[in-house]
Amino acid sequence: ERQEVRPYNRQRLLVVANRLPVSAVRRGEDSWSLEISAGGLVSALLGVKEFEARWIGWAGVNVPDEVGQKALTKALAEKRCIPVFLDEEIVHQYYNGYCNNILWPLFHYLGLPQEDRLATTRSFQSQFTAYKKANQMFADVVNEHYEEGDVVWCHDYHLMFLPKCLKDYNSKMKVGWFLHTPFPSSEIHRTLPSRSELLRSVLAADLVGFHTYDYARHFVSACTRILGLEGTPEGVEDQGRLTRVAAFPIGIDSERFIRALEVPDVIQHMKELKERFAGRKVMLGVDRLDMIKGIPQKILAFEKFLEENASWRDKVVLLQIAVPTRTDVSEYQKLTSQVHEIVGRINGRFGTLTQVPIHHLDRSLDFYALCALYAVTDVALVTSLRDGMNLVSYEFVACQEAKKGVLILSEFAGAAQSLGAGAILVNPWNITEVAASIGQALNMSPEEREKRHRHNFHHVKTHTAQEWAETFVSELNDTVIEAQLRISK
Ligand code: G6P
Repeated sequence: ERQEVRPYNRQRLLVVANRLPVSAVRRGEDSWSLEISAGGLVSALLGVKEFEARWIGWAGVNVPDEVGQKALTKALAEKRCIPVFLDEEIVHQYYNGYCNNILWPLFHYLGLPQEDRLATTRSFQSQFTAYKKANQMFADVVNEHYEEGDVVWCHDYHLMFLPKCLKDYNSKMKVGWFLHTPFPSSEIHRTLPSRSELLRSVLAADLVGFHTYDYARHFVSACTRILGLEGTPEGVEDQGRLTRVAAFPIGIDSERFIRALEVPDVIQHMKELKERFAGRKVMLGVDRLDMIKGIPQKILAFEKFLEENASWRDKVVLLQIAVPTRTDVSEYQKLTSQVHEIVGRINGRFGTLTQVPIHHLDRSLDFYALCALYAVTDVALVTSLRDGMNLVSYEFVACQEAKKGVLILSEFAGAAQSLGAGAILVNPWNITEVAASIGQALNMSPEEREKRHRHNFHHVKTHTAQEWAETFVSELNDTVIEAQLRISK
C-alpha cells in the first residue's frame, strides 16, 4: 500500500523560503551574475537524500522589467532556484515592515513596536495586508511549479500564511512548515492583532516543526488558548484533522568546518592571527548586527570584566564581528550607532597608544577567514537575548578540536538545550554574571575545558544539518501517507 503512494522515481522537494540562497547582481539588460551561498543549511536542503530539490524564494533584488525578470529566471533555473518577484512597495511593507519590524521582535520577546502607537496600529493593517499578499505571491509560484507527489517545505516567519494559501489551491499537497526563530510563550503571541489568522494558516500544514520542544509546546498552547483547539501529544486537532507538531533541532555541516582547518590558506591565516595576538587571550563574538544578539550587553559585560580585573587588561582582546543586516529598518540603524558608541568609549577608556581591547568589524568574513578565527579563539561569547538555535556556537565548537576553547552561551538560545552541558550558560541580561563567566572561562583548567569540549564536539558532529533536513522531510512524507491511510480505512 505504501509503495502505491511513494513513487519509484526520485520525489521532488520544493523548498520555499523568503530568500533564495543566492546573491544576484545585474550586469546588463538581460544578464545577471549569480553567486550561490555555500552554507551547510543550503546544501542540506538542496541535498536531501532520495529527493530532487528546487528552491523557491525572493532573489533580494528589485527587477521591475520583464526582460530582466526573464533573464534572471533563466539564470536561476541552472541553480535549481525559482524566483518570486516582489516590488519595492511590497518589500517595504511585507519584509521591512510586518516581518522584521513586527514578527521578528515579537517572536524574540522584544514586544510589538511601542513608539507612536497610533501610527503603528494604522500601518499594522496595511503591513499585514502586504504580508498576506506577498505570501499569496509565493503560493502562486509554488502552485505553478507543483507536480503531483511533490513535497513542499515552507520556511520561517515570513511565510506563516503560505500553508493555508497552498492548501486552498490543492488540499492534497504535502505541506510542511518550519520556524527558524523561537515561538514565544502564548502570552506574548496573543498580543499580536493577527494572532488567530496566522495560527490557523500554519495549522493548514501537515507537519509543523520547531528547533526545540519548548517552542513546539508554546505553539500548541497558543492554539489551545487562543483558538480553543485541542492539543494532543502529537500536535493540534481541529474537527478530526490533526496537524503534527514536533521539534527538529537543526545542526551544521561539521565536516566542512573540520576539513577547512586543513586548507593551507586557513593554516597560514591562523598563524598570522596567533602572531598578531601573541600574549593575549582571544575572545570572539560573531553575530548579525541584530537586537536579539545582545551585542551591547555583551560588550558592557566585557567592560565590566576589564574594570574588575586590571591584571587582564593587556592580556585579552575581544574580536566582535557584527554583520550588517536589514539596514532599512530604523531599529537596526539605531543599534549600529549604539554599538559604535559603546565600543569607542571602552577603547578610549582601556586602550593604549598601541592596542585596544575591542576590535569591532561591521562586515562579514569569508568562510576560510571565519574558520581560522574560530580555531584561534580561546573563549567564544554567544550571548543572544533570544535566538531560535544559534549556529555560531556549533561552528565554533566544530573548529576547536585542537584548542578546546570555552563557549559562553546564552540560556535563551535554542543551542543551550543541546550544548548546555559543555558550555558556561549565562543570562545575557545579567551583565555581572556574564562578566564573572568571562573570568571563569579564562581561568578554566585544561582538564575541564577538555571535558566540556568533548561533550559539545560529539553533539555537533552527530547532529548535522543533513540529518535535520532528512528527518523533517521523511516525517512530512510519512505524516501525509499515514493520514491518507487513516482516511481510506
Ligand atoms: C534569520 C532568519 C532567516 C533569515 C536570516 C537573515 O536567521 O531566521 O530566515 O534569512 O535571519 O536575515 P535576512 O532578513 O537578511 O534574510
